[in-house]
Amino acid sequence: MVAPGIWLIRVGTPEAFTPVRYRSAPPLTAALADLEKCEKLPLALEGISVLRTPRGVVVELPMEMTEQIFGMGMNLNVVDNSGSRKTMRVSDNPNDTGDTHAPVPFYVSTRGYGVLVDTARYVSFYAGNLAPVSDDAAAAPAQSGLPATTTEQLYSNRGVVSRRMTIDVPVAAGVDLYIFGGPSAMQAVQRYNLFSGGGAVPPLWGLGVWYRGHSKFNAQNALKLAAELRDSHMPIDVFGLEPGWQSQSYSSSFVWSPDRFPDPEGFLKKMDSMGYKVNLWEHAFVHPTSPIHDKLKPLSGDYRVWKGLVPDFSLAETRKIFGGLHDALIAQGISGFKLDENDNQPVSARPWSFPEFSRFPSGMDGEQMHSLFGVLYQQTLYDRYRARNVRTYNSVRASYAMASPLPFVLYSDHYLHKDFVRAILTSGFVGVLWSPELRHAQSIEDLYRRIQTIVMSPQALVNGWYIMHPPWWQIDRVKNAANEPMENYKEVEAVCRELFQLRMSLIPYLYSAFSQYRETGKPPFRALVLEYPEDPLTFRIEDEYMMGDSLLIAPLFAGDDGKRKVYLPKGAWYDFWTGKRYEGQQSYTIEMGPTRIPVFAKAGSLVPLAKPVESVRPETQFELNVKVFGDGSQPFRLYEDDGITFDFEKGKQNVIELQWTAGGGQVRKIKGAYTGASRYRVAGWDRVAAQ
Ligand code: GAL
Repeated sequence: MVAPGIWLIRVGTPEAFTPVRYRSAPPLTAALADLEKCEKLPLALEGISVLRTPRGVVVELPMEMTEQIFGMGMNLNVVDNSGSRKTMRVSDNPNDTGDTHAPVPFYVSTRGYGVLVDTARYVSFYAGNLAPVSDDAAAAPAQSGLPATTTEQLYSNRGVVSRRMTIDVPVAAGVDLYIFGGPSAMQAVQRYNLFSGGGAVPPLWGLGVWYRGHSKFNAQNALKLAAELRDSHMPIDVFGLEPGWQSQSYSSSFVWSPDRFPDPEGFLKKMDSMGYKVNLWEHAFVHPTSPIHDKLKPLSGDYRVWKGLVPDFSLAETRKIFGGLHDALIAQGISGFKLDENDNQPVSARPWSFPEFSRFPSGMDGEQMHSLFGVLYQQTLYDRYRARNVRTYNSVRASYAMASPLPFVLYSDHYLHKDFVRAILTSGFVGVLWSPELRHAQSIEDLYRRIQTIVMSPQALVNGWYIMHPPWWQIDRVKNAANEPMENYKEVEAVCRELFQLRMSLIPYLYSAFSQYRETGKPPFRALVLEYPEDPLTFRIEDEYMMGDSLLIAPLFAGDDGKRKVYLPKGAWYDFWTGKRYEGQQSYTIEMGPTRIPVFAKAGSLVPLAKPVESVRPETQFELNVKVFGDGSQPFRLYEDDGITFDFEKGKQNVIELQWTAGGGQVRKIKGAYTGASRYRVAGWDRVAAQ
C-alpha cells in the first residue's frame, strides 16, 4: 500500500518518464485517510499475470463477467467501455477507439476499484474481449453439422467465456500499476484524484461566463465588443483574445502585436475597469522571432511545428525561461491562457505535430512527449500563478493522468452537441474538466440548447473566434461576418441573457462542488453510474449527469422537439423549475420549451441560488435565496474565502452550513479561519415543494 487504499504493483523495470513521476502536486494523504477504509487489495493477486515480449509488456488483471468498466480517457463517443479495446493516444480528432484530448490511462469498475497504468506509452486496454486458447476447456464444444450461414450465427462465435482486462504497454520493459480501492466506484475515483493532489478550485470569477473574440480583433474591436456586452447587461467575466493578439502566430511569439495592441497596459486597464479578466490564446511552439527562441533551442525537440520550437517542458530550465516570459504578461494582469494545439493528429496523412520518434533533451521520445505534453505545459504556466499566490482558470486542448489539481478545462474543434455532453460525463471518471463550448448555431433552438449545456458545465464558454459579433446577434457564420444581424436578435439576446444569469446564480453552488473536488476528490460533474453503480440502468446513460451533489442535468438537443427521456435514479426528485415531484428508478418523457433545460433536484437537498451579478469582483457578496426541495433534510455546505488566492489551502476558508429545520432555515459557520469580507448573505428560503 502506498497511501490509504492505494496499492502499487510493479512489473519489470518501469520507464523513467511517466505521469506519476511528473506529477504536479503531492498526494493529499490526510484526505485519503478520511475516506471510508479500504484495507484489502480489491483484485486477487493470483489472477494477475505478466508477459514480457520484445515489443513491450502485457499485464492481465482479473475481471468478472458482470463487471462494467468506465474511464480510459475522456471520451466523446462512448461512456461504457466494457468489452471494448481502446488505445490511448492524444488526438485532436476524438473517436471511439481511444483517440482523445485526454487519453488518461485510468479506468474504474462498477466492482469498486480503479487502475492507473503509469505510462506515457500509447497503452491499449482490452476490456474483457479476448478469448485466449487457455480458456478452451471452459468453452462450448465447436459447432458440428452444417456451417452457420446467418450473420448472427457467424458472429455469435465472438463471445468470450471468461473475462480479463488485458493491458498492452508497447516499448516498455516494465510498468507500475496503481490500484485504487473503493469500496465504491466513486471512492476509487476520489482516491485517484486525491492521489493526484486533489481537485482544482477555480477562482470565483472563473465560474462566470467566458467570451472569446474574433482571431483578428485589435484592441479597439475588443474594447468595443466588451463595452457592448456590458451595455446589454450580458453577464461575462472573462474576455479571451485569440491568436491575433500576438506579434506572430502560428507559431507563438508570446509578445503583444505592436499593430493590433500598441498599448497593452492601457487596453488591460480599460478591460479591468469594465470588470473583465483577460485570457490569452497561445500554443507552445516558439516562433523564431520570440525573445526566448534562441535560449530555448537547445532545450527543445529535434523537429519544428509550425516553424516553432517544441519546448521540453520536463526540464526546469525550459520552464524557467518559458514561464519567465509569461510572468511579464501575468504581471500586466493576464488572468490565464488558452493552451491550444498541444494534442496531436495520430491518424493523418499530413499531421501538423512532431513525430513519435522525436528526441528531446531530457531523453523523452516523441510518443512519451505527446502523452505528457499537455500536463507539462499546464504545469509550466500554473506554477507562475502559484508563485504569485493568485488563482487562475484556463483552457487547454490536451491533458493526461494526474491532472486533477490543474485548473485547466479541455475543449475541442469537434462540434457535435451530443458528443460534447458525453464528454461532461466521461471527464469525471478520469480527473479532468471539460467545456462543451458554444461557437455558431444551426438554429435559434440549437443556440439555446447549446448555451443551456455550457451553463451547466465546468466552464461556460462562448468561443467566438471566427465571428465578429456574438452568436445571439447572428447565429449564421456567413451573415455574422457580413455584419447582418438577425431580425429578432434583441429577443434572442434576452433569452441568452437569462441563461447566463442562471449560470451566475449557480456560482456559489458550483464553488462548493469544486471545493469538495479539492477536499474529497469527488468530481463536480459526473455520470450517474458513479453515484448509483448498483443500478444497471445507469450504465448506458450518456446524456444525463450530476452537477454537484443535488442537481441532475438532462440537456435537450435541437431537433428533438423539446422532448427527451430522463431516467431518475433511486429516491425522489423535484423538477427544478416547477417543483413537480417524481419517484426515482423510473424513466419519464420530459417536455421543455426551447428556453429551459431539464434539471432535477434530489429530494431533501438545499440549493443556494445567488442574485445574478454581471461579473464577479473581489468585493462581490452573493445574495442568496435557498431553494429547499422536499423535507430539506440534507444540509448544504457553502465555502467562503477570498476567491482569488491560495490562502484557502492554509485554512483561510470558512465552511458555512445551510440547514432547514421545522423552525425554518439556519446559517451556521462550522469551521474556518477566513476573516475577510463576507461572500454570502442569505436573503431568503424558498420551500419548493411540500412533502
Ligand atoms: C483552434 C482552436 C480554436 C481557435 C483556433 C484559432 O485550434 O481549437 O478554438 O482558438 O484554433 O486559430
